[in-house]
This record gives sequence, C-alpha cells and structure tokens, in this order.
Amino acid sequence: MDPQPSNHLLSSLETPLVQVSSIPEQIIIKSSYFPLVLSPRSPSMNFLQLQEYFIANHTKILEAASQFGAVMFSGFDIRSAEEWASILFKSGMKEMPYIGGAAVRRLIVGTEERLLNPQIVTTNESPPSQVIPFHHELAQTPDPCSHISFFCAENTSEGGSTPLLRSDIIYDWLKENHSKLLDESEKHGVQYVRVVPEVDDPESAIGRSWKSMFNVKTKEEAEVAMKAKGWTWQWLENGDCRTVSRLLPSTIVNSKGTKSFSIR
Ligand SMILES: [Fe+2]
Repeated sequence: MDPQPSNHLLSSLETPLVQVSSIPEQIIIKSSYFPLVLSPRSPSMNFLQLQEYFIANHTKILEAASQFGAVMFSGFDIRSAEEWASILFKSGMKEMPYIGGAAVRRLIVGTEERLLNPQIVTTNESPPSQVIPFHHELAQTPDPCSHISFFCAENTSEGGSTPLLRSDIIYDWLKENHSKLLDESEKHGVQYVRVVPEVDDPESAIGRSWKSMFNVKTKEEAEVAMKAKGWTWQWLENGDCRTVSRLLPSTIVNSKGTKSFSIR
C-alpha cells in the first residue's frame, strides 16, 4: 500500500546514510506507516553520524512524528544512553521536568537539576509482572509533554516490546462505538483521583511517591507544587496523599489539526 500522505516528506528524510525501512511489527493506518522506520544504509552508522543527521533534519523528523504518529530509529550503532542523550540534545526538542508523573524511575543520564542537563530515565522500575496500561504521558497534568522518546540499548531475551497506539484512532473508535461517553467526557472534562505514597514503591507501575513526583522533601513544598497545578489534596494518617487534579480535557487537537483522545 502506498504510504500517503507524505511521500515528499519520506524522500526528504532519506540521505546517503539513512533510508526509510521497516520492521515486522509495522502496520499501515489510514494509508500511513506506523511507526515510520528509519535505518542506516550500512550497519556501522554511529552516534556522531546520527547526531549530524538530527542537526540537519530535526524539523523534518518532528514533522514525520506528527504525520506518522511515531518515528523509530532502528539499527543504528548507538552504544549508551549518553550517546542517545547527545543525539536528542540536537533534536530541536526541549526537555521538561517529570513533575506530576506516576512512575518510579531511575536516573541514567544527567542530574536531578532538571532542565540544566539532558536527562534520560528508566521507563519504569516495577517488575515485569506489573502491567503498564496504555496511557498518555502526563495527561493528568495541565502541561503534558509534546513528544516522548524511548531508547533501547539491549533487547530482552523474550518479550520486552514497547506497544504504541495512535490516539487519533482511539478518538475515532470512541466516536464510532461510545459516542455518548466521549461527548460527556469532552463536555465535562476529567479529573484524576489518586492515593500517592510517601515513599517510592518500585513494586508498583504507578508507585511514584509525592516526594519524587514533585521533587520535594516536605509536605509544605508538595502543597506549593500541587497548588500551582490546581490540584486539591488530603493528607492521610500514614503519610500518603490523596490528590485530586483540576478538571482536564479528555481530548486534544493534535498537531495535524484532528482530535486525539488524551486521558491518562
Ligand atoms: Fe508513561
């Protein structure tokens, strides 16, 4: 099938070193590859060469992320998270702090002084037995990220895939199958109610403590951060915090100008 629209974009992303390729899991949605896969023409393309590619093409890469929903760089000789951080640093994307998120993560690159240094964190510290449901990153906050980047240095021996969904397709599906629910959620908005632990619980996929969530040490500091987000809260006897987000939209207009479902 012809992967319209964007043939021009596709050919413009190809260089003497990089080509449009595919992976077995790739599918075609609305005549468009998902994800778009870019690979080196020879297997020895290292991070410096990929960094140069990003410097020259980051605008088009982000346009492709918008058009196709995801861009996968597969088969490049990227040895470490430090190398990946240096590539992202030239991507045109700005970092943002992971404030208000639910996952316990470990810092791999950078320092806790967020935004001053490129930062790479683990996706989730919980054990493989914990299911990570599909979600929109930081949708429970007023200012979710525009892009998210995953780096895999080493495949697991089995499983270990990162599933992705196109949220504009979810919107279409809901419109078709659950239009009343969708309409109600758009009309009223959504609120997130959570009991957040005082200490990180790495056994849970959503075990991030309020101390880590807001990068604070005291309840008073957490309250300042929650107030800034428009959250309300209730402290529980054991130190946990029951948080209620402000009303947030259940859908967004995406970068293509269509609607995407966007709840956590
Ligand atoms: Fe996430």
